Amino acid sequence: MDTINVDYSTQIPNNVNLASDRTVLRALEGWHANYLAWWRDMGPEGFQDAKVYLRTAVSVDPQGWAKFGYVKMPDYRWGILLAPQEEGRKVNFGQHLGESAFQDVPGEYRAMLRRLIVIQGDTEPASVEQQRHLGKTAPSLYDLRNLFQVNVEEGRHLWAMVYLLHKYFGRDGREEAEELLRRRSGNAETPRMLGAFNEETPDWLSFFMFTFFTDRDGKMQLESLAQSGFDPLSRTCRFMLTEEAHHMFVGETGVGRTIQRTCEAMKAAGIEDPHDVARVRALGVIDLPLIQKKLNMHYPLTLDLFGAEISTNSANYYNAGLKGRFQETKIEDDHRLTSATYPVLKFIGGKIVKEDVPALTALNMRLRDDYTEDCAKGVERWNRIIDKEGVKFRLELPHVAFNRQIGEFRDINATPKGVLMSDAEWAKVREDYLPSREDLAFLDTLMKAEFEPGRFAGWIAPPKVGIDNKTGDFEYVQIAA
Ligand SMILES: [Fe+2]
Ligand SMILES: [Fe+2]
Repeated sequence: MDTINVDYSTQIPNNVNLASDRTVLRALEGWHANYLAWWRDMGPEGFQDAKVYLRTAVSVDPQGWAKFGYVKMPDYRWGILLAPQEEGRKVNFGQHLGESAFQDVPGEYRAMLRRLIVIQGDTEPASVEQQRHLGKTAPSLYDLRNLFQVNVEEGRHLWAMVYLLHKYFGRDGREEAEELLRRRSGNAETPRMLGAFNEETPDWLSFFMFTFFTDRDGKMQLESLAQSGFDPLSRTCRFMLTEEAHHMFVGETGVGRTIQRTCEAMKAAGIEDPHDVARVRALGVIDLPLIQKKLNMHYPLTLDLFGAEISTNSANYYNAGLKGRFQETKIEDDHRLTSATYPVLKFIGGKIVKEDVPALTALNMRLRDDYTEDCAKGVERWNRIIDKEGVKFRLELPHVAFNRQIGEFRDINATPKGVLMSDAEWAKVREDYLPSREDLAFLDTLMKAEFEPGRFAGWIAPPKVGIDNKTGDFEYVQIAA
């Protein structure tokens, strides 16, 4: 079978020849029913019968893989899509460097590999759960459609990981697949596995920050798993990355359009000082300092997702050839890291110091640094919008020691500039840097749905171009009466 085009003849669209793999197909069909029950229970609230203008993958060819059309979300054709197998692909790092890529699970690495897949899999439904209440306050039908596109694709990412569990891990794989539907974001008894995926996404500014920051963490994780010597994982992650790009687009342009609208409103009202918060808010737009506070909240949460700076787990994953570095094959070194070092920020003797440690143990730190660099570029693109409007303000990523829960800086307080302070001092200034109750209450007043085609809530600018080149008043979501 052609592995580029997708077979829609089975209940589960796929390009992995499921039709001839009866056991796996039947197991997945069983899981499908439970998945749909989860989707109805925890997916977008209030819009299950709406017709949404969504893209569905019909090929894994980077050019033209998507077909657009109206679909009710529960009828979305979630499928299993792997990038085509590369002839003669090798393990590109670790102690199996140069050997043929693993087409099956190496027995000695079974537990490790399953854990990697389950951790990645757990984040996918979590984000759908975190975003399930946002539909009713969408600032436009365009944004509503983008939210749902992200949601169905995160659902598909879950499918991607569940396929690997069913296909390669037998019974315990099937059990893990059920557990992925059982955990719930923010639930006290059965929370999702990682901290940031148990946080609320209470408003659309948070949604945009989430898709900018947290989906970008997703991109970095997928990039390093796309390097995997376990070929089916690599292939599935490569296709997932093409979908991830849209999620980050939604986040970056969402915040960008918010900034744009704020600056335009300030100019029109003759307000020059971005810190004149009361006057800016009276215009019904989100002041830039509050956008900075939201950024300050989301960024450290995503830094925590990379785990401890020094990690033997990630060294083991690397040695085993299961999880590589960002753009591993483009890096020029021995790809074994036998003697290399990497600089890590540590908290020693009451001070933040840089220390060289064995690179093999600092892989989380390295991936996090690559992530930070990627984030910083996006923040600069936001700053260019502000500059262009002639407003004097700069958004900045806070220092890595700011507001952390995991790693070297979890027990200390630091300002966004990295100035250390006591608990008492921090309590006094916390609301200068993170959203206060008043800030959130203000945001809440702006979160009112705008469902008229072509119209946008007053706090956000329209996009420059529509999805699938549709014109401004296109009805992206037909809300059921
Ligand atoms: Fe995802
Ligand atoms: Fe995503």
